[in-house]
Formats: sequence, C-alpha cells, structure tokens
Amino acid sequence: MGEQQAADVVATVRDGYAFDGPALELGALLDGDRPLPDVPVRVPLGMLNRHGLVAGATGTGKTKTLQVMAEQLSAQGVPVFLADVKGDLSGVSQPGTSSDKLTARTAGIGQQWTPTGFPTEFLALGGQGTGVPVRATVTSFGPVLLARVLDLNETQSSSLALVFHFADKAGLPLVDLKDLRAVIQFLVSAEGKDELAGLGALSKATAGVILRELIAFADAGAEPFFGEPEFDTADLLRVAPDGRGVVTCLELPAVQDRPALFSTFLLWLLADLFHELPEVGDVDKPKLVFFFDEAHLLFRDAPDAFVEQVTQTVRLIRSKGVGVFFVTQSPKDVEADVLAQLGNRVQHALRAYTPDDAKALRAAVSTFPRSGYDLEELLTTLGIGEAVVTVLAENGAPTPVAHTRLRAPESLMAPATAEVLAAAVAASPLNAEYGQALDRESAFERLAAKPAPGPAPAPTPTSAPPSPSAPAPRPEPAPRRAPQPREEPGVVRDVVTSSAFKSFLRSAGTVLGREITRSVLGTAKRRTRRR
Ligand SMILES: Nc1ncnc2c1ncn2[C@@H]1O[C@H](COP(=O)(O)OP(=O)(O)O)[C@@H](O)[C@H]1O
Ligand SMILES: [Mg+2]
Repeated sequence: MGEQQAADVVATVRDGYAFDGPALELGALLDGDRPLPDVPVRVPLGMLNRHGLVAGATGTGKTKTLQVMAEQLSAQGVPVFLADVKGDLSGVSQPGTSSDKLTARTAGIGQQWTPTGFPTEFLALGGQGTGVPVRATVTSFGPVLLARVLDLNETQSSSLALVFHFADKAGLPLVDLKDLRAVIQFLVSAEGKDELAGLGALSKATAGVILRELIAFADAGAEPFFGEPEFDTADLLRVAPDGRGVVTCLELPAVQDRPALFSTFLLWLLADLFHELPEVGDVDKPKLVFFFDEAHLLFRDAPDAFVEQVTQTVRLIRSKGVGVFFVTQSPKDVEADVLAQLGNRVQHALRAYTPDDAKALRAAVSTFPRSGYDLEELLTTLGIGEAVVTVLAENGAPTPVAHTRLRAPESLMAPATAEVLAAAVAASPLNAEYGQALDRESAFERLAAKPAPGPAPAPTPTSAPPSPSAPAPRPEPAPRRAPQPREEPGVVRDVVTSSAFKSFLRSAGTVLGREITRSVLGTAKRRTRRR
C-alpha cells in the first residue's frame, strides 16, 4: 500500500467506526505494524443481533477475541453464552494476570487494562464434566434434531416424526430415551399393530431400525442428556446483582467424541430460546449473544434438513434480540446460507500451504467489502491477536475493512482451576434446580404399567419384546412441555411456506400441520413458564 493509500485507510476507518451509541471496543487500527490508539475499531452494541463470524487458523487469537467481546457484553449488561469446547474459556470468571508482554500490547493500542473477572455460570451437558447439568426432554428436543443425532436417513427421520405424533396423541410423555424406546417397542409389538397400521407411513421394519439406533445411542452413553429437570433457557438471560450480564459457559471438553450430539444440543438451546422469547425487532442492545466455538462441528456431515433448521433459526432469532457468533477456522466451515447472514466479521490469519488452503483464503477474501488492502497478502501475514475486521455500522451498512490489533482480555487467558470450577458450580443457584435428575411417570412407566397376560418381559434395551399393553387412555397430569402451538403469526407463516417445511409435510405423509407446529423448528414449546 502506498503512503497516500495508507493515509486514506486511516481516515476512512476513523470515520467509519465513529459510532454515537454504545459499542464494543475490539482494538486499534494497525498502520503496517504500528498501532494507532486514536483510531479505534469497534462494533455497535445494537448490531450484535446481526450475527457474526470469528475465523482464523488455530492459535491466531479467535478464542481471545471471543473472550474480549464476551467481557464487554457482560460489562454492558448483556448476558452471554459460550460453548467452551477446549475448556479455555472458563478463565473469564477470574481476573487476568499481567505481564510485560501484555502491558506492551495494551499500552500500544490505548487499552486501560484492569484485571477483571466476570459473573459466570458453568454448565455441562448431561452433567458430564464440571458444570450444572443441562438436560432436554425427548419431546422438546423433537424428531428433527433427534434424527440428526441418530444419523437417520430421510425415510427414517419422517418415521421418527410419526412416532412422536403417535406419542403426542396417545398422551405418552416422551421424557427420556427409554420412553421413546418403549413407545417404538409397543408399536412394533403384536399389541401395537393396530396403532402402527393407523400411522400409515410407518413401517415395522423402519421402526425396528430406529429402535436399534436408539439402543446403540444409549449404549454409547447418551442416556443422561435426555430427561428432567429440563434446562430452562430463560436461565441464560440473567443479569448479576451488579448489573453485569451473566456469562454462561457450557463446558464441553469431551465433545470431540460426540460432535453431532454437542452441536445439536446447542441448536436445541437456540431453538428453545427462539420459542420462549418475544419479538423485539431492532434493539439498543441484544438480549443475549451466543458464541458457537468450533462451529465446524455443527455442519460437519449434516443433512440438508438440519442445515435448513440452522439457517432458519439463525435468521429468525435475530428479531428476538439474540446474536449468534460462529467461531471457526475458515468461513468455508459455515454453510453459505448461514454465512450470508453474518454481518460482523473478525478474520484472523489464514494459512496458505495447500491448494485447499488457497481456496479457503480466496473464499474468505471474497466475503469482504472492497478495500485498499491486498487481503490475500494481509490475511496470510497477520500476527497473533490481529485480524481483518468489518462490522455493521449503526445504519446497517458494512464498515470499512480495518487491519486491527485486538484488545487483550482482562480476565484470565487460561482455564480456571478445577477447584474454582467446582466451587462455582456448588454455589450456583441453578445447581439446586438442575443438580438431581428426576424420573417421573412417563411413556415407559405407562406402557409397562399394565400387567402382562403372561410373565412380563423385563424391558431391557436389548430385548426386542415390547411392553405388552396398549397406552391407557386415562387423564394425565399435563407434561410441563407439550406440543401446544402458540401462534406467532409472522414466523409461523414464514416457516409453513418454507420449502423445508413443505417437504417435511410431504414426507410425513398422513401427519398434518397440528403436530408439526409442535414447533416452528421441530422442537416443542413449553406450555407454561416455571418462573
Ligand atoms: N487479543 C489477544 N491479546 C493477547 N494475547 C492474545 C490475543 N489473541 C491471542 N493471543 C495469544 O495467542 C494465543 C492463542 O490464542 P487463541 O485465542 O487461543 O487462538 P485460537 O482460538 O485461534 O486457537 C493466546 O493464548 C494468547 O497468548
Ligand atoms: Mg480457540
């Protein structure tokens, strides 16, 4: 870049990031390797529900960028959700430690660095790991997401939807996996043959396949993720007594073993938030910002229907005031339809070793607005904790591309110790609520309740013999969650006219709109709020 051109960039960036309202301070413009502390690079608080992408090769500073954003959101009263895949985000709860290197960095960019810990909750899926257990009921998880974690094909997926339909109609609450197994076992049994026939498109063979998949899934350790008490996503929206937003870290250290389950659970959380939150349109500040670290896991080998769910959720949740940030190595890791919705971009360094790298690099460059930079060159030479940034200005237009040195987190840039984590979980008010699993009467118990004509076969997961009784049509306590569509006219209309929804209807055969609107996104809604 020539001298004149560099001066132009400085002037353009200075103007382009001079927002009036509250903003997150990302860092300072770099002129070559010289930071300009008086040319800040920022993102307006009110634009964070327009979603974002933090990308870059391993070790380039993505997670620290996320930490910097999370801290400032909390400080400005916005709750934050972090998927802590590597366990390196738990330090957000503790004040950071100073060093000469850190001081040189912060002084250079004009950051008044004050070591600060933030109010943090730690969650763990199914209680596996250190964190308050997060569970979902099978019914609220819904057939679409469950089909994804079971890796079912299209026919099997629509058959699973029919099983849910049957259970809903028969008043058999699907709380945990054994409930779902019991219902399928019933349908494939001699006793269930009329009900099975009534479902039309559900074949006994397919039901058997789903049952085997469910058993394998449970054997692989998935049982604890489903059940009650179900996590109430309203608990992600808390503000601490001092006015700061609560940072919720979902600790996912073992996630590499089961990426589909992990990513599907995150989508469930988002879909559930979507159901629960009112429409707010544009906001001064978001209600919640959700960070998906290692987001490539969400899309890896995902079937089209699932990708469509993600796209849909991300598109619609914006009007509920929720921002979603994907954090991943390359923009290519995120499906194009989702990528197109990510208005705020922080692109850290990319490698260009292999032809594939080069392709990813060109793809990343093509997502940026025109600028005076040679981005292919710049993106491969960025230092650690530096990025190329463009965000949405307050008027919704993209800001000028800025070569930025990011701020340093003021909380700890390392995991909190096991003791700190354990103490935080023990002290959490959420632990009192979710700590212990419940097993109330649901489909499994009801189907097993009636005495068998002969000796009742023990319903062990491996024994195919089904529970020998028809679902008793007796009055039942209302499940906490039920497929009760609450009209959200605009959204429902959008979704029922979407092609995914139509093809789902087609493939579901005889199942009509009633059950399918058990959710806009395939998950069920809460009938009543607990609090
Ligand atoms: N904004 C930053 N301020 C200070 N140090 C940083 C910053 N970004 C990255 N670093 C340094 O680089 C290391 C790797 O960053 P990290 O965010 O973990 O990378 P990634 O998530 O891309 O793999 C950090 O441990 C830290 O030492
Ligand atoms: Mg990281």
